[in-house]
Amino acid sequence: MTAKTLSNKVSIDATQLVAQAIAALQHAYAPYSGYPVGAAVLANDGHVYTGSNIENAVYPLTVCAERVAITKAISEGAQRILAVAVATANGGTPCGACRQVMQEFSAPAMPVFIARTDGSYRQRTLEELLPEGFSATDLAVARVARSE
Ligand code: THU
Repeated sequence: MTAKTLSNKVSIDATQLVAQAIAALQHAYAPYSGYPVGAAVLANDGHVYTGSNIENAVYPLTVCAERVAITKAISEGAQRILAVAVATANGGTPCGACRQVMQEFSAPAMPVFIARTDGSYRQRTLEELLPEGFSATDLAVARVARSE
C-alpha cells in the first residue's frame, strides 16, 4: 500500500514534528527582523514538509515559515494538512495570514503545536486560533445569493 492510501491513518508525532520545525528554523532567512521561524507540516500523504521564514529587502515580500511549508506540501501533491508545528525562540503564535492558509487545507480540529526552540510547546486547534474563519463555504453562499 502506498502512503496515500493510508492517508486516513497517518499518525501525528508532536515531539517529532516540533523537532523538525526547530531544525527548519536553522534555514530561516531573517536578516531584517532577526526573528527566525521554522515550521513543519504533516500532510495526508504521510510526509512532513518544512519551511522557514524568507525575508526580502522589499519587506512585504517576506513569506512566513508556515506558508512556505504548506506551499511546499500542496505543490508536491499533498492535498490536506493534518498537523502544523511552528517554532520560534519565544513561542510566538502563527500570524493571521498563516491561520487563514492553514484553514484552506485543514480541518477545524487540526492540532497546531506552538513551540519554543527548547522543544517545549503548547497545543491549540486551528479553530481556536481562527474561529469563524472565512472559507469556500462562504463563497458558495455568495454565489447562490448572486444568482437569485
Ligand atoms: N513570521 C513567520 O514566519 N510566521 C508567523 O506566523 C509570524 C511571523 C515571520 C515573518 C517575519 O520574517 C518575521 O517572522 C517577523 O515578523
